Amino acid sequence: HNILRGKTEMVFLVKPRKLIPFGEQAEVTMRTNFWGTLWACHALLPILRPNARVVNVSSFVSKKSLDKCSPELQATFRNKDLSEEELCLLMGEFVQAAQAGDHTAQGWPNTAYGTTKIGVTVLSRIQAQVLTETRPGDGILLNACCPGWVRTDMAGPNATKGPEEGAETPVYLAMLPEGAKEPHGQLVWDKTVQEW
Ligand SMILES: NC(=O)c1ccc[n+]([C@@H]2O[C@H](COP(=O)([O-])OP(=O)(O)OC[C@H]3O[C@@H](n4cnc5c(N)ncnc54)[C@H](OP(=O)(O)O)[C@@H]3O)[C@@H](O)[C@H]2O)c1
Repeated sequence: HNILRGKTEMVFLVKPRKLIPFGEQAEVTMRTNFWGTLWACHALLPILRPNARVVNVSSFVSKKSLDKCSPELQATFRNKDLSEEELCLLMGEFVQAAQAGDHTAQGWPNTAYGTTKIGVTVLSRIQAQVLTETRPGDGILLNACCPGWVRTDMAGPNATKGPEEGAETPVYLAMLPEGAKEPHGQLVWDKTVQEW
């Protein structure tokens, strides 16, 4: 439209999200949100100093999406014995099911974003357990957080929080004082631990 009117504004040649097949959305979103977080953590967790703070940005949507999983999947994601390898396999199974078009029949929620954020929240719990076991006494705290509904490119102008307000919970978790024992391995939203 702008080109036709001779204007010089930037035109984004991006397919509207609804036209992108769900299987493709699932694959790309999983790579960015879940695998990106996992790979960054694999690179950085081994070099953490004592009393380090790690804040993985998840979302309250992870909790809403967990509630939409089948009872079996919910139990699996709440199981404190679930390993990182098992979680990775589950995230891969979701993408495969999304590409085959039968993810809802297999008990998954009908949201790619929400499922990837289930992965980030559960990954954070597992990583915290591993840190407790492998670096006892180092005082490292690792959590997942939700910034809230924040006015960004992703959420748009109708979101209720400004960027400074959205930063409050992540910064709170990043600044937990030395000697603090908790929260650790939790999903935190509005500076409050959420039941998972
Ligand atoms: N905004 C909310 O209401 C809300 C609510 C809950 C959780 N969150 C979470 O908060 C985090 C930040 O979200 P936001 O609202 O700030 O989103 P945003 O405005 O869409 O910004 C996303 C950022 O991620 C970068 N990015 C996307 N794909 C990437 C990739 N493959 N590799 C490297 N960087 C990539 C983008 O880079 P470019 O600028 O280069 O594209 C952009 O800087 C996300 O994890 C989101 O899920 C946000």
